[in-house]
Amino acid sequence: MEVRQPIVAVLGHVDHGKTSLLDKIRSSSVAAGEAGGITQAIGSSEVPIGVIKTKYKSLLEKMNISLTIPGLLFLDTPGHAAFVTLRKRGGAIADIAVLVVDINEGIQPQTEESIKLLREFKTPFVVAVTKIDRILSWMPHQDKSFLDTIAEQPKRTVEEFENKVYTLIGQLGSMGFDSERYDRISDFTKQVGLIPVSGKTGEGVPDLLVVLAGLAQKYLQKRIEFSKDGGKGTILEVKEQKGLGSVIDIILYDGQVNKGDWLVIGGKKTIVTKIKALLKPEPLKDIRAERRFLYLDSVTAASGIRISAPELEGVIAGSPIRIVNKEKGLEKAKEDVKQEIEDVEIQTEKDGVVLKADTLGSLEAMIKLFQEASIPIRKAEVGQVTKQDVLEIKTLKEPLIFAFNSQIQEEAKNSTGVKVKVFSSDVIYRLLEQYHEWKKGEKERKEEEILNSVTRPARMRVLPGCIFRQSKPVVFGVEILAGILKPHFRLSRNGKKLGEIKEVQKSGASVDEAVSGDRVALSMDDVVAGKDVLEGDILETLITHEEFRILEKVRGKLRDDEKGLLEEIRNR
Ligand code: GTP
Ligand code: MG
Repeated sequence: MEVRQPIVAVLGHVDHGKTSLLDKIRSSSVAAGEAGGITQAIGSSEVPIGVIKTKYKSLLEKMNISLTIPGLLFLDTPGHAAFVTLRKRGGAIADIAVLVVDINEGIQPQTEESIKLLREFKTPFVVAVTKIDRILSWMPHQDKSFLDTIAEQPKRTVEEFENKVYTLIGQLGSMGFDSERYDRISDFTKQVGLIPVSGKTGEGVPDLLVVLAGLAQKYLQKRIEFSKDGGKGTILEVKEQKGLGSVIDIILYDGQVNKGDWLVIGGKKTIVTKIKALLKPEPLKDIRAERRFLYLDSVTAASGIRISAPELEGVIAGSPIRIVNKEKGLEKAKEDVKQEIEDVEIQTEKDGVVLKADTLGSLEAMIKLFQEASIPIRKAEVGQVTKQDVLEIKTLKEPLIFAFNSQIQEEAKNSTGVKVKVFSSDVIYRLLEQYHEWKKGEKERKEEEILNSVTRPARMRVLPGCIFRQSKPVVFGVEILAGILKPHFRLSRNGKKLGEIKEVQKSGASVDEAVSGDRVALSMDDVVAGKDVLEGDILETLITHEEFRILEKVRGKLRDDEKGLLEEIRNR
């Protein structure tokens, strides 16, 4: 039986260095070009066996490994918490995995989650203990094998390194894994190998590739045997390509694909079409970034490939596919994909927000984020933001649309303006940051509005010799003792209502407010000096029960002396 390339999933916590490590492996710089510096989609790249054989000849000889597998197909996965489905998808189709752990951070939440997935799918794995170049006084030796570089390090550096590795071995031990530095392991079926690496200097990368290839060849023989009778895959991305129209990038994880084969795609509606062209990125390139493709007649698993075919418009990334080379296999393939579609099941609420994303995987990640933040969802769909989305929610109290990596149609933009707010970002967690910021602003605005609609606490003294006019309106001077005073506030004397302030004047000019310490002149219509107010009187603003309740609610926005007055009112 022929064997296919094994699929190697690279899993681990966010920012622990998965993409950088792969960049070192394929000598590229995908990590540097990612939005927000995080991976948000699965990527794939192939390392042909010839590269490993020639580049790491001496290490292979030293470890007594002779390679016959055709190569390794690496899958890069996102480490950010929200992308659990993409990690799961990567984990599910992997034959073997590299768990990336930052030596300085050890096991983190998504490391644990990845380990759970590996357990669930019974995927054998090695641990790439990365960022070793950050160890105190580390002397980098570009692209050297770990064994060579560790032999050259100062004693103290080796000690610190060993300490950190032992801590990690301890952490893995408490999770039920017996692990050890790979060069100290005699039986890889009993112990998990730790391979120290750096995605910055490339140290340890030779060891990682050689060990992975060796393990895959030795232990996965049965699993990677394959038949050329059709194929199985999953869609990474749907794109437009000049001259070809709609194309799909897929991971073919089993079988073989030929030009002209039937292509069966699962989705809301199952699509059956025929493959027009088969393209593959050059080896050592990530399918997400690469522009140069080779045209082929036939491709065997596991591969990251691009397919051009009619009727691909509207196909959704994340969908399962089957490739069939005989018509009689079609019915079974259609059933298979139907079964594989896990409906994105969410509880929706009429009064919720609208979520839009570019792929199924990222939509699932978005739903997870919003559910965790307890933000009700009205609708979650793959695709652009349309006018229909805007119109449908424009009467809601909070009409909000969130677009992750998805475009806002021109006519949707034009119909926005009024009330519907659209948040858009190519970095998933920024959507929530934007939302929280907006929410804070809204709350402030509302509180401000409420505060402006009520009479607030203030106390003042009528200044002796400052009754400027007796009545209609009365004009008299006061000193504000505490709180804030504005025109239209109601005043009281000994708890009895006096009337509304008509105008507040300071140094002869009308003002919007006066605060404690200010001396101002007030004018009031239905008040008579000498009868209703006397020199030296203490006056207060008159606050209704309803206003008192409101003031208590927006207490945070009040001045300290107002809070004191409010306290006094409560205790009366
Ligand atoms: P996600 O895909 O978002 O989960 O992150 P990732 O695991 O792919 O991490 P990435 O490769 O994007 O690296 C995260 C940061 O760590 C970047 O700033 C890298 O430059 C840095 N980094 C990664 N590996 C190393 C390493 O071995 N040494 C040092 N010094 N820095 C590293
Ligand atoms: Mg990454």
